[in-house]
Amino acid sequence: MDIQKVAVIGGGTMGNGICHVFAMNGIAVHLVETKQELADKALSTIENNLGRMVDKEKIDVGQKEETLSNIQPFLNISKAVKEVDLVVEAVPENFELKKKVFAEVDKAAPKKAILASNTSSISITKLAATTYRPEQFIGMHFFNPVPVMKLVEVVKGLETSDEAIRVITETAEALGKNPVEVADYPGFVSNRVLMPMINEAIYCVYEGVAEPEDVDSVMKLGMAHPMGPLRLADFIGLDVCLDILNVLHDGFKDPKYRPCPLLVKMVDAGKLGDKSGEGFYEYD
Ligand code: 3HC
Repeated sequence: MDIQKVAVIGGGTMGNGICHVFAMNGIAVHLVETKQELADKALSTIENNLGRMVDKEKIDVGQKEETLSNIQPFLNISKAVKEVDLVVEAVPENFELKKKVFAEVDKAAPKKAILASNTSSISITKLAATTYRPEQFIGMHFFNPVPVMKLVEVVKGLETSDEAIRVITETAEALGKNPVEVADYPGFVSNRVLMPMINEAIYCVYEGVAEPEDVDSVMKLGMAHPMGPLRLADFIGLDVCLDILNVLHDGFKDPKYRPCPLLVKMVDAGKLGDKSGEGFYEYD
């Protein structure tokens, strides 16, 4: 294995899941957060999710403890990336923020290290161009919940080398995932297919075709989706869905990606789904 030590920047929903799967597969992980409370929160989420796997007898208590011992928290990017083989960035979907993170990573990480972004919508080519190693820059797009979902979308930027593709593909396989290589176009494949479906489901509610529960029942019972599109939109975050639709709309200049006005209004009102306690459904 080329990758023995990884730094994961960001311990939110995606970041802590990414740390979880690397650490569970014997890879040393440096988890980077901005504040001690956020690092503690990420670690306790990982501990709870590992506990859930122990309860389901997928792993034993020894494996849980070993996984946790593979994770070291850091509050400083430069220190965390010093001796790693791979950096996976999972900070919020904001180009300027990611650019700032990668400037620090690029300066401090070993020359041979691969830089990966878990971005769901920002161009890999554009992010790569902000660094001095665009050939070693790649998209490594995981899916929520990361410990459960089998897909890793491996996104090849304009200058990403075949060697970086090989390393990331093999790394994803070593994590028990199924990598799928895609070219760098807006939404890649996953969100280019998923988001228009979610948007259309929102239009069904907006136009009074059906209530959210009924739209979701149609897709769950008729199409065997594990979650209906509106429940899934809440789970992903309505703000994230809106951001991705805007990236598709801007990137292709095609009105078929126009975000539904109801989605825009819900985001404006702060109804973001699970994380805000309310979206198409209410949550505790
Ligand atoms: N960590 C570890 N295990 C977890 C977990 C987590 N965070 N979350 C769920 N699990 C496990 C459960 O323990 C359970 O294990 P089992 O199969 O041994 O019983 C299994 O996953 C199923 O969970 P639950 O029984 O709690 O609930 P469900 O059966 O309803 O499944 C779900 C939950 C896996 C989330 C399922 O509803 C699902 O697959 N939903 C679709 C998720 C999806 O589409 N994700 C992609 C979102 S798009 C994205 O991430 C990309 C971004 O760019 C937008």
